[in-house]
Amino acid sequence: MKEIHDFTILECRQAGEHYVVLTLQHGGTMLPVVPGQFVEVQVEGCREVMLRRPISIHDADPQRGTLTLLVQIVGHGTRRLAEMRVGERLNLVYPLGKGFTTEMPPASRALLVGGGAGIAPLLYLSKALGTKGLRPRVLLGGRTAELIPVREAFEPYAEVCVATDDGSLGHKGLVVEHPAFGEPYDMIYTCGPTPMMKAVARSAAQRGIRCEVSLENLMACGIGACLCCVTDTDQGHRCVCKDGPVFDISTMQKWYQC
Ligand SMILES: Cc1cc2nc3c(=O)[nH]c(=O)nc-3n(C[C@H](O)[C@H](O)[C@H](O)COP(=O)(O)OP(=O)(O)OC[C@H]3O[C@@H](n4cnc5c(N)ncnc54)[C@H](O)[C@@H]3O)c2cc1C
Ligand code: FES
Repeated sequence: MKEIHDFTILECRQAGEHYVVLTLQHGGTMLPVVPGQFVEVQVEGCREVMLRRPISIHDADPQRGTLTLLVQIVGHGTRRLAEMRVGERLNLVYPLGKGFTTEMPPASRALLVGGGAGIAPLLYLSKALGTKGLRPRVLLGGRTAELIPVREAFEPYAEVCVATDDGSLGHKGLVVEHPAFGEPYDMIYTCGPTPMMKAVARSAAQRGIRCEVSLENLMACGIGACLCCVTDTDQGHRCVCKDGPVFDISTMQKWYQC
């Protein structure tokens, strides 16, 4: 089930120069959401932005009826979201898409690899794995330390490792070059820039590790109607908004091999 609903902004917090964290209050009974799902945000007061913007669920608290979004400021719509203030209303269509698999055998070793705004869905995923008794490892990557926001939010739920291109934080190099990446895992989840996710998927496939990727193709309707987000999979073309954004790489060989 989906809902179109006006949420109220409870908190807006700048996270470094390029990101903002928005906590939104439903005000009634919020629909259940799972890690990896996303919302389509209506951006008001901005002539340049006609279409809703897809943003992952960064965190959720069903008891309080809150959703948290981590927004990277990249253009008109996200800049307008970053200007919003406590008490203002934000209209969302939610929850959208298929999320990550969180059913895992006890004592499974899980690695979560995030880059850029792809870090966003991994926080709620870490928490969900925690409720299953797992403490995952999270590997966050970015060009510089500044581009790795909200690292500390993961610390209660996960062991956090960092890789930066310039070595300003953590390991100097790409996430797939971090020593923690090569360790054995039962499951790898990844979200971020496409070349990063393809490198993660290729390595997982070679090592026989189950892996899920969360794609961030450009979107319009968010509900499978306009076909603008289609991706090629081993089972044919699929809408990222409706059939994903999370895909198991066992069906994505064509995608990660090119
Ligand atoms: C399923 C999904 C989940 C997402 N989750 C998040 C999230 O949690 N946090 C977050 O900050 N962003 C997320 N994004 C990306 C976000 O939707 C875009 O950054 C946003 O729509 C840009 O809007 P804008 O009006 O600010 O930019 P525009 O003015 O429309 O464009 C500015 C620049 O951003 C690029 N851009 C636009 N859309 C995307 C996109 N989908 N992916 C990558 N680059 C894009 C454009 O090519 C352009 O270079 C997600 C995207 C998808 C598809
Ligand atoms: S965004 Fe319209 S079909 Fe996916």
